[in-house]
Amino acid sequence: MKVTVVGAGAVGATCADNIARKEICQELVLLDIKEGLAEGKAQDMMQTAALLGFDTRIVGSTNDYSKTAGSNVVVITSGIPRKPGMTREELIGTNAGIVKTVCDNILKHSPEAILIIVSNPMDTMTQLAMQVTRLPKNRIIGMGGALDSARFKYQLSQKLGCSPADLNAVVVGGHGDTTMIPLIRHATWNSTPVTRYLSIHEQEQIVADTMVGGATLTKLIGTSAWYAPGAATTALVESILRDEKKLITCSVSLHGEYGQQDICLGVPVIIGKDGWERIVDFELNEAEQALFSKSADAVRSMNEVLKS
Ligand code: 2OP
Repeated sequence: MKVTVVGAGAVGATCADNIARKEICQELVLLDIKEGLAEGKAQDMMQTAALLGFDTRIVGSTNDYSKTAGSNVVVITSGIPRKPGMTREELIGTNAGIVKTVCDNILKHSPEAILIIVSNPMDTMTQLAMQVTRLPKNRIIGMGGALDSARFKYQLSQKLGCSPADLNAVVVGGHGDTTMIPLIRHATWNSTPVTRYLSIHEQEQIVADTMVGGATLTKLIGTSAWYAPGAATTALVESILRDEKKLITCSVSLHGEYGQQDICLGVPVIIGKDGWERIVDFELNEAEQALFSKSADAVRSMNEVLKS
């Protein structure tokens, strides 16, 4: 198995590091346009192999796409991250051009690859990848919901004083501060609805804190987060390469599911060897469906940029 991670910034490098340690592929290629960055980080990671005990071979390259040939999975993290006070949406102009070029180059060398899109604004970049590659829809996966759901579990675990591993909780909709929808009504703590243990005010606070989870970190750190984005991406790569069939929220192309067409938006999907294999219907109630439609409208209006 071979994985390529395009973009050796903090998110790309963290993802590569996680994948290497887990030994879920034999070869990992880290690529970046910035001279020396990917080679340097790849060597640094390889020098941890003897200490941590893994056998994944990590190759770094400054934009030599021939090194990525035959990748089973390609993670695209390229583009500029947001700064404090910026929305993910403000990155669209710069990142659209970058993501398009990366997709073109990747497919020349790995026509069979499954693509995981991490670059922001993630839903629009996933839609762009659909348009420029014309790949079967199941091979294009936007990462946002996996990350937002992990942040949702973090917020719930803090309030409940429980292990995040005992929680089931998903965020659907767009990967934006105002477009994501933490589905608290569906969240459970070892099969019991979490709403049983939380006041309405606490529930609203958890939902609000989840929605600005990325922005809060950007403000604290001075740039976009990387540990949780890297880990969420790794979970997707692992579920594909090990054919785990995990149920993870991802941005995928909708064709009538959840009442939407011609848009990539976060919904719960089964992730396995063929990419996203099927969408699971969470049966939203009227209020949740209304939020989902509003989220779709916002993402759709952002996608207008792709038409120009
Ligand atoms: C985040 O929310 C990178 O968009 C990503 O941290």
